[in-house]
Amino acid sequence: MMNLKIFAATGLAVCFCAAAAAGQKNDEGRIDELLSRMTLAEKIGQMHQITGTGLSADMTAAVRDGKVGSLLNELDVETINELQRIAVEESRLGIPLVFARDVIHGFKTIYPIPLGQAASWDRAMVEEGARIAAREASSVGIRWTFAPMIDVSRDPRWGRIAESFGEDTYLTSAMGVAMIRGFQGGDLASQDRVAACAKHFAGYGAAEAGKDYNTTWIPESQLRDVYLPPFHAAADAGAATFMCSFNDINGIPSSGNEWLNRTILRGEWGYDGVLVSDWGSIEQMIPHGFSADLKHAARQAANAGVDMDMMSFAYTSYLESLVAEGQVDESVVDEAVRNILRLKFRLGLFDKPYAEPQGREAFYREDALAGARAAASGSAVLLKNNGILPLKEDVKRIAVVGPLSDSGRDQIGTWCFDGEPQHSVTPLQAIRNEYPAIEIIAEAGLAYSRDRDAKAIEKAVRAAKKADVILCFAGEEAILSGEARSRADISLPGAQTELIRQLKATGKPLVLIVMAGRPLTIGSEVGMSDAALFSFHAGTMAGPGLADVLFGKVVPSGKLPVTFPRMTGQIPVYYNHKNTGRPASGITLIDDIPVDAVQTSIGFTSYHLDAGDSPLYPFGYGLSYTTFEYGMPRLSSAVMRPGGKITASCTIKNTGSFDASEVVQLYIRDKVASLIRPVRELKGFKKINIAAGESVAVEFDITADDLGFWRGDGSFGTEAGEFELWISPDSASGAPVRFDLANE
Ligand code: BGC
Repeated sequence: MMNLKIFAATGLAVCFCAAAAAGQKNDEGRIDELLSRMTLAEKIGQMHQITGTGLSADMTAAVRDGKVGSLLNELDVETINELQRIAVEESRLGIPLVFARDVIHGFKTIYPIPLGQAASWDRAMVEEGARIAAREASSVGIRWTFAPMIDVSRDPRWGRIAESFGEDTYLTSAMGVAMIRGFQGGDLASQDRVAACAKHFAGYGAAEAGKDYNTTWIPESQLRDVYLPPFHAAADAGAATFMCSFNDINGIPSSGNEWLNRTILRGEWGYDGVLVSDWGSIEQMIPHGFSADLKHAARQAANAGVDMDMMSFAYTSYLESLVAEGQVDESVVDEAVRNILRLKFRLGLFDKPYAEPQGREAFYREDALAGARAAASGSAVLLKNNGILPLKEDVKRIAVVGPLSDSGRDQIGTWCFDGEPQHSVTPLQAIRNEYPAIEIIAEAGLAYSRDRDAKAIEKAVRAAKKADVILCFAGEEAILSGEARSRADISLPGAQTELIRQLKATGKPLVLIVMAGRPLTIGSEVGMSDAALFSFHAGTMAGPGLADVLFGKVVPSGKLPVTFPRMTGQIPVYYNHKNTGRPASGITLIDDIPVDAVQTSIGFTSYHLDAGDSPLYPFGYGLSYTTFEYGMPRLSSAVMRPGGKITASCTIKNTGSFDASEVVQLYIRDKVASLIRPVRELKGFKKINIAAGESVAVEFDITADDLGFWRGDGSFGTEAGEFELWISPDSASGAPVRFDLANE
């Protein structure tokens, strides 16, 4: 199963559980003792999370009376400390508050959006970004972030794909664990660490039509194989909290789903952290049609094991009467409060409740900016290069155009409430600052991504004509991705395609850099360009990071964490699909069908007449300035015994002239199974450096556990038989070797 075992080999095992275990025993005694002194009203107060309103009379009274356990969105450190003082010194039991905030990909220093971070396939980078975010946020008293979002996201229309680690279960698990480790460190009680929150539990990424908050219909085997493993890995990694998702799964909203929250999370996984609702998600069970009213919703959520109510006011309004009426057992309340107090003990809040204000000193430190710059370059994916990149430093005149060329706000992307666009270094600024000898002709052309101003395009074209090379920074504004920002058409917005068409017509070399919150259907735009670099909104240091790649100071090494469709109608399109009984072959595209063709003349296989059967770019794809040659995988044995392992290795040669990093990917396929298995599944990856001309042997251990899945009889395990294995640069290339898993 996807758990610590997988990560131990790669050094990702989080020591949080072990390190905290000793202290935890003592905490349990203190928790019980405290609980025994609490009134029912005080217990319910702990289960209530509200948004900050400064030091308003209502807020200070609520804190003093023990009617609130946690605040979100309070950011002023003096206010935070004063509210904490009231909680600790003036409330009857002195239980500290915990302050929370969405610190998703940075607090002040913004890293690439999580989808971009996933494109780096670099666990250490993701961990470091979260460490920096924790340091900055905790400096104002925030000790709980609502991240990472580990919803497997197969639909680029869904705006929240930006916040995800993409379409793959294994990659999402690995990145999620790295981020949790970065936020929490080895000791959550360190004041520069924050509690992570694995969200949204569960299945939110399966929203129908990629429309946010939409319903999902997920068979149990798919839920367990695809959507739950990242959460299981997060629980095993010691994620201090979990958050419910907004969606219903198969008719049951997560905030009222006993099976999900009790049977699986608490029962099967033994999770003892806090489960918080999403914002208003308890109340939203009413419009879902699952709860008759708020009291009903409160009962369902409490009984389903939701410990803390974020902004529904359901528990404070009704839990006391529900207990009195016997509709919610007080032991349910006690269990929730235990989980909440445990979090506060783990965070060390009983011993050190106050933040030590550090002012702006805590922000934008040198290591933070250097990390963000490396993350921006490390997560850029080179889609195409006819040799124009890297740019030569002796290039004389560059036209910098496009609506994303100088937009500090847009480059930091979605979900960075505290990011400060004025601290962003844009591509235009970076190129100007760092290459003063080059003449820069800056003419955005379009003021923002949805702009359709033809006159402005003319200006950009005039500028481009004077240059030796055109760098066109296109994409999406930040506001077009993120929560409730779904799109039914994921092409480049506004008149950007026309801008690119006219730039191409100048005959000047054209480099397209796309900065966006999701995959876009950019086949024709890439086709018109001499080189194309895809950068998911890359944060504060996007400019210098991308300039490093464009000028070859950094060789691109990012790989797509999600499939890019040719056109929106192909969605859902993801690499680990099933084969079908009639896999695509003999594809005839729509324009190649003879007029009056007879029905049987173009075959009967699984593809679209207008899109064929391949994506624009497959999962795992990304070019480099160098080239790599993969040898055939070698296996330590052609047969794996049950409970055993085999080692797969492959020699990879850097056949180009740049030292570079390569993300080497391991895939398997289970050929025959009681429930059909995907055509390929990622089971491992390594990002390695290979010097020009050198060869490196890369090894992966595969255990029988890695081959398990939720089988036809509803149990987890393996099935004997034939497997294929690839070690390849992406999910669509390479030749497989075969091995057998032997019977018991
Ligand atoms: C989002 C969560 C977020 C919460 C608090 C909700 O709308 O779904 O991901 O953590 O708001 O801001």
